[in-house]
Amino acid sequence: MGSVGAKEVPVLLSADGRRIDGRRLDELRPIRIQAGALHQADGSAFVEWGANKVMAAVYGPREVHPRHLQQNNKAVIQCRYNMAAFSVDERKRPGLDRRSQEISKVIGEAFESVVFAEEFPRTSIDVYIEVLQANAGTRCAGVVAASVALADAGIPMVDLLPSVAVGKIGGAIALDLKKEEDNFGEADLPMALVPQSGRLVLLQMEGHMTEAELAQALDLGVKGCRSIHETMKQALRDRYAVAPLAGGSA
Ligand code: CDP
Repeated sequence: MGSVGAKEVPVLLSADGRRIDGRRLDELRPIRIQAGALHQADGSAFVEWGANKVMAAVYGPREVHPRHLQQNNKAVIQCRYNMAAFSVDERKRPGLDRRSQEISKVIGEAFESVVFAEEFPRTSIDVYIEVLQANAGTRCAGVVAASVALADAGIPMVDLLPSVAVGKIGGAIALDLKKEEDNFGEADLPMALVPQSGRLVLLQMEGHMTEAELAQALDLGVKGCRSIHETMKQALRDRYAVAPLAGGSA
């Protein structure tokens, strides 16, 4: 532990390039995705990613509420990201605060880039993201969960939308920050990638990076997204795998 004033700052990167949880700079936290975790929703997914636990539920295409949001030429995508009061160390006041509103907006806009909304005019596709346990990168875990939930609901999309945050810790660019790295690191850069085209449809940044570091961070993030994409596809395969016919010949 080093210290800055009265505040204890953990050593985020050891001399041999290991992080506080033993990961290398380019390593993701373990990620597990369950497609179709809820019965009531049209589509759903549960994501455990490091210590994050995030549930996503999708309803629609269905009637638009409130009515005035209805669009004649396409579906509206309404996204609500919410953190449970018990999801963080210090109890979070329930309800939508500015942070959740911002995250809901950027995630909704990211999905507008991949969903074929024009196929469902005058309807709403409602995406609910509930963070049950948070440990940094929850908006990315939310995008991943919502994306698999949209696919599970049968909503046509250009592609799934893998997402990850890259950051800067102890002067180095690192993939998939956990909470201490997010809190005490120098920068945090969440992103979401359309794998097919390589286009980024969500990109935010907190902190500072040089131009060269930003290029390195984007490169590392894209690689991370491509790996998460495989896990997302596997979750859908696991859900929809057809059992071989009994008695079928080999
Ligand atoms: O979760 P994400 O990294 O997308 O968003 P953030 O605003 O950078 O928050 C980073 C982390 O701070 C969250 O994942 C939580 O672990 C924590 N946090 C918290 O403890 N209390 C809040 N009200 C908001 C965030």
